[in-house]
Amino acid sequence: MTPAAPLDPSLVPPAVRDADVEALAARYGTPLFVYDEDELRRRCRTYVAALGAGYVAYASKAFLCTAMAHLVADEGLHLDVATGGELHVALQAGFPPERLVVHGNNKSDDELDAALRAGAGRIVADSFDELERLEQRSAALHLTPTVLVRTTPGVEAHTHEYIETGTEDSKFGFTVTDGIALDAARRVAASPTLRFGGLHCHIGSQIQRLDPWDRAVAALAAVARQLDVPVAELNLGGGLGARYLVDDPTLDIGAYADALRQAITAHWPTRDPAPRLLVEPGRSIVAPCAVTLYRVGTVKKIPGIGTYVAVDGGMSDNPRPVLYGAGYEAYLPSRIGEPRPLRCRVVGKHCEQGDVIVADAALPAGVQRGDLLATPATGAYGYSMASNYNKVPRPAVVFLRDGAARVVVRRETPDDLVRLDVVGD
Ligand code: LLP
Repeated sequence: MTPAAPLDPSLVPPAVRDADVEALAARYGTPLFVYDEDELRRRCRTYVAALGAGYVAYASKAFLCTAMAHLVADEGLHLDVATGGELHVALQAGFPPERLVVHGNNKSDDELDAALRAGAGRIVADSFDELERLEQRSAALHLTPTVLVRTTPGVEAHTHEYIETGTEDSKFGFTVTDGIALDAARRVAASPTLRFGGLHCHIGSQIQRLDPWDRAVAALAAVARQLDVPVAELNLGGGLGARYLVDDPTLDIGAYADALRQAITAHWPTRDPAPRLLVEPGRSIVAPCAVTLYRVGTVKKIPGIGTYVAVDGGMSDNPRPVLYGAGYEAYLPSRIGEPRPLRCRVVGKHCEQGDVIVADAALPAGVQRGDLLATPATGAYGYSMASNYNKVPRPAVVFLRDGAARVVVRRETPDDLVRLDVVGD
């Protein structure tokens, strides 16, 4: 693609392409997260078709609100929650607890109790300390939870180091080397108060090739080989990459599922039945399903240097460019088919030079104050990592379906910004 080419419309989900986004912006304000609900459902169904219902746990950290929990429940997926907060939102939404997978590298006693009391289907244990507390607390509550052992199989996932989690030097899980993961699995299997559910690993996020999972399965098969009990379930976490930029690969969910199954066939000890394969996709379900709409506030041209296009959001609704150097496309919805010869930097309104949304954007010439500007593929880790930095209220989120929009998260108001403040007498 030449930089001046129009946006590839396939980056924009169909319902957003068809919508009158000016009307949406006028009605709900900007910045605004706009999700295509049918596309969310389609992607859930593609996962279920590739792996089976009950074998896919949506990773709620990518984007969670009550409507999303309902949608995931409807589509028959499980739900991965990594904190007491995510657990609370899921339970409040009425998500079936037996379909919850509870994560966290530092679960508090309260979080463990909440998961146990709710009857969460699976708890993924991260440390020996946690195993000890899990045993004590489940004994006290007369419960026998199903516990998986989170392992770090020592695999490079070829992604940003902040989101690479399967290497040995990680805060997560039990390392496979030195028999540590094996010890943890043996301990769960021998425990009278825990039911050994199997092994888990999550090697990283935004992974754009399939071979790292083969190496992860090989490492976990070596653990399975030394266990006296079969591994009923192998949960390989999330991580499948999303297409953010026009030149990013489109990764096929079916091919990914096939690669995981082939890895199991190739490596799993033949004396054992093949484990049930579970995955926990977050980004690859939600990222492509949303765009963020912004209003352009100023356009500043610096002779000999470049052009800044400032919008009414920024690192508070999308911190990914700042955190990971993540790239996005930008386009003007009213001119979506037009060439984009203007190279510019799309920035936010925060008091930081680094508050960048798209470092090297291509936009149509003549972009000006008042234009609506959109960034596609912002459905994952955008709203979920949003903040109130500079006391900017967090945006609203709308779902589009059958040509109609509904607000699923309302916009914060200035009053929300002082809601938690405590004033002394
Ligand atoms: N399972 C576990 C245990 C995880 O830790 C994660 C993500 C997932 C599943 C889902 O991974 P996904 O399919 O979304 O790649 N904030 C970062 C991503 C952090 C991912 C953390 N764990 C970003 O914006 O790139």
